[in-house]
Amino acid sequence: MKTKIAEKFKTLFGEDGDFFASAGRINLIGEHTDYNGGYVFPGAVDKGIMAEIKLNGTDKVHVYSLDMDEYVEFGLNEEDAPAQSWARYIFGVCRETIKRGGKIAGFDTVFAGDVPLGAGMSSSAALESTYAFALNYLFDCNIDKFELARIGQSTEHNYCGVKCGIMDQFASVFGKAGNLMRLDCKTMEYKYYPFHPEGYRLVLLDSVVKHELASSAYNKRRESCERAAAAIRKNHPEVEFLRDARMEWLEEVRTVISEEDYMRAEYVIDEVQRVLDVCDALEKDDYETVGKKMYETHYGMSRLYEVSCEELDYLNDIAKECGVTGSRVMGGGFGGCTINLVRNELYDSFIEKAKKAFSEKYGHEPKVYDVVISDGARKL
Ligand code: GLA
Repeated sequence: MKTKIAEKFKTLFGEDGDFFASAGRINLIGEHTDYNGGYVFPGAVDKGIMAEIKLNGTDKVHVYSLDMDEYVEFGLNEEDAPAQSWARYIFGVCRETIKRGGKIAGFDTVFAGDVPLGAGMSSSAALESTYAFALNYLFDCNIDKFELARIGQSTEHNYCGVKCGIMDQFASVFGKAGNLMRLDCKTMEYKYYPFHPEGYRLVLLDSVVKHELASSAYNKRRESCERAAAAIRKNHPEVEFLRDARMEWLEEVRTVISEEDYMRAEYVIDEVQRVLDVCDALEKDDYETVGKKMYETHYGMSRLYEVSCEELDYLNDIAKECGVTGSRVMGGGFGGCTINLVRNELYDSFIEKAKKAFSEKYGHEPKVYDVVISDGARKL
């Protein structure tokens, strides 16, 4: 990938720049908890975005996407937003950096990536954090790492229409090889957890299903959670986020909120606790409990939060039938991957069975990605 980027850069701009990269992410457990002030448990992966960049002494950005085979130019003022959705991520990062006092000027850049799109591994966060990290470095902006993650998040909110939480950008900026990270999204305290599950492997099965309108459905989930938290807050003023609520308190407002909002909140309150339970289990190397919690998350995401789909439920069923330790839909949902915790000796038969059964039913095999937990944003 680096060679291809360098060749294209040379052809387009006639010189060489600096290389930067960042990563996509997995999440062991803690889904849709981030914007509820809860815990998440992600790690960066060995699939990401790489970019070559050189300042060009103008006030324009010249960017070429190798994967889209498309060239775009834009200025750095609010009204200069490009139409291409992929370019809006980079434009958004420039704008959000400027809003934070960064003195950004024009640059030339070529980028490419190998995070599967729509797989729920957050290719967009990888793109945002590559550029947030690079611009901070190249323009000496002195922005700290949390703020770099927030630049990516605000890009999603203000330029891409997704009211996401902080998990993906956090994982992409803070990722460290061999480590998962538990982040408390209320206090932003985090802890690295070396993750080498003896006797087990983590593998993703990509349904290759991508649903339209995922971002509006995502935003609707967030609104449900905010309504439920607001209702609970009337009785319990200490409840800033759903993360602060107890199930009994949700029960008290059952008749005040819609059935749908109730189900969403029920899932979130359980899920926040599941992350803590998984951390305890990991400290005891108790992977059976980790796996059990993953199945519980899948059930909640499918039946209460309603962000799974038929294909992902089917992959989850196959995992269960094969005796896989843990399996669940990963990321925002509405398509994408399941993440599976599999005993080494079961791995081959599980993958074979999943490919066969899935393609018999849906006409194509799921894609298989072995998880390698890697470093996040960096200069190469
Ligand atoms: C998407 C969002 C994250 C998070 C997950 C669900 O990946 O970008 O902020 O909410 O969905 O856990």
